Amino acid sequence: MNFELKSMDLAGAASEKSDALLVLVNTAFKPGRGALAELIAQAVKAGDLDTKAGKLLHVYRPAGVASPRVVIAGIGEGTARQVRQSISAAVAAIKGVGTKRVTVCFASKTSEDAVRAAVLGVADTSYVYTTTKSKPEVRALQKVVLGMPDATALKPCFYQAVASVEGIELAKEWANRPGNHATPTLLAHAAKELGKLPGIACEVLLPKQVEKLGMGSFMAVAKGSDEPLRFIVLRYNGGAKSDAPTVLIGKGITFDTGGISIKPAPEMDEMKFDMCGAASVLGVFRALADIKPKINVVGLIPSCENMPDGRAIKPGDVVTSMSGQTIEILNTDAEGRLILCDALTYAERFKPRAVIDIATLTGACVIALGAVRSGLFASTDELAQALVAAGEKAQDLCWRLPLDDDYAEGLKTNFADVANVAGRAGGAITAAKFLQRFAAKYPWAHLDIAGTAWKSGAAKGATGRPVGMLLEYILAQSANPEPKRVLKKSIRAT
Ligand code: BES
Ligand code: MN
Ligand code: ZN
Repeated sequence: MNFELKSMDLAGAASEKSDALLVLVNTAFKPGRGALAELIAQAVKAGDLDTKAGKLLHVYRPAGVASPRVVIAGIGEGTARQVRQSISAAVAAIKGVGTKRVTVCFASKTSEDAVRAAVLGVADTSYVYTTTKSKPEVRALQKVVLGMPDATALKPCFYQAVASVEGIELAKEWANRPGNHATPTLLAHAAKELGKLPGIACEVLLPKQVEKLGMGSFMAVAKGSDEPLRFIVLRYNGGAKSDAPTVLIGKGITFDTGGISIKPAPEMDEMKFDMCGAASVLGVFRALADIKPKINVVGLIPSCENMPDGRAIKPGDVVTSMSGQTIEILNTDAEGRLILCDALTYAERFKPRAVIDIATLTGACVIALGAVRSGLFASTDELAQALVAAGEKAQDLCWRLPLDDDYAEGLKTNFADVANVAGRAGGAITAAKFLQRFAAKYPWAHLDIAGTAWKSGAAKGATGRPVGMLLEYILAQSANPEPKRVLKKSIRAT
């Protein structure tokens, strides 16, 4: 999809030739002169247009307007959430009629938050997955012109949002692909492709190298599958050589059957999404290549399948992690923490300024926070606050959960240094307590995205979260939070 930013008032919007024109009207709107402004004023006066967020008024071929379809959408006070809600309703309304080119125009001056919400909202609502369809439904929407009275000051934020969309859509694509179309090998290929982008390097470690590193915990999970594991290392070097990097670690279980502690059949297909953490890391790197912030970032993806097999790990097996700590695997379905712990140890070599792992880790987190906020755990208040703030800004929310040592009591065992599961109570927290044992050497945060990374039911599909949050965090941390002009043909500003 192609985005363009333009300064325009309602008269400009009226003369813009598109298949559809969406006009976003806030409650404080003061109509000026011109066909469109008068139409809106009349509709508000007659009670036919409600400026509450999400309310729509459809108009067909109004006089003086170049676009045949016009949708006037209320955005309330114009907060990010309201704009997002309104855009979702409006884009859904025009999506079915083959709209190729759409102009989205704010009727009044607007904010950075609203611009970001508009770009992310249009992209999200118009996204279609096609990779494994024999007759793919093509994404109708090709071109989006985003207009507002004075666009100049909002350019940097606009470019950043467009780059985020690229990253979010890459994350959605890989997350949505079925397990047989997104194996560890294929994920590694996708990472290698990213390594061809300017500023990005990619190295893929094979089973032999992983064995040499002593990643006994990661290897134990991979043992039950015929698909060979991959350990992906991505690097984005935008900062000085001496700058300590931020390390992102994404859980890359390309399918989670549960292993010998096998999962029940209903909804097991959704365990193809168990690599959404990995997909979000790929998405962040895609966006970094566009935004080019002055910061160093490392991405680590341990990737394998979790399968039952003659060679698979069994409940009670004890393995030795790269850290030297021994782990009793009481439940083979708690595999995410087993692959992440070795990546957390590997991260030490980068002397990172912070390490953030992203994982569809526990069903318990879905019960605790649902699909609205991701679970956040952090070893420092500073890191927690920065991630919460980034989530608010990106409208990709998280909520901090506790890490009291008392929660680790249940991980004690007579047969190893630590067990991989505790009881059912506080399952998201005990999983985080397990990970914390391997993350003592740097500021660390863990995002449990089990509830937020994909939607179930009729709208089943990946959300691309938390790419938005992570990018905001990285950009806020970088010495250069204002993104440079993005040099890409598909992104232009006038
Ligand atoms: N990938 C799952 C977590 C998950 C389950 C995410 C359902 C989204 C929906 C993870 O590997 C897992 O199976 N976790 C277990 C841990 C338990 C055995 C302690 C869980 O949450 O049931
Ligand atoms: Mn599992
Ligand atoms: Zn899993």
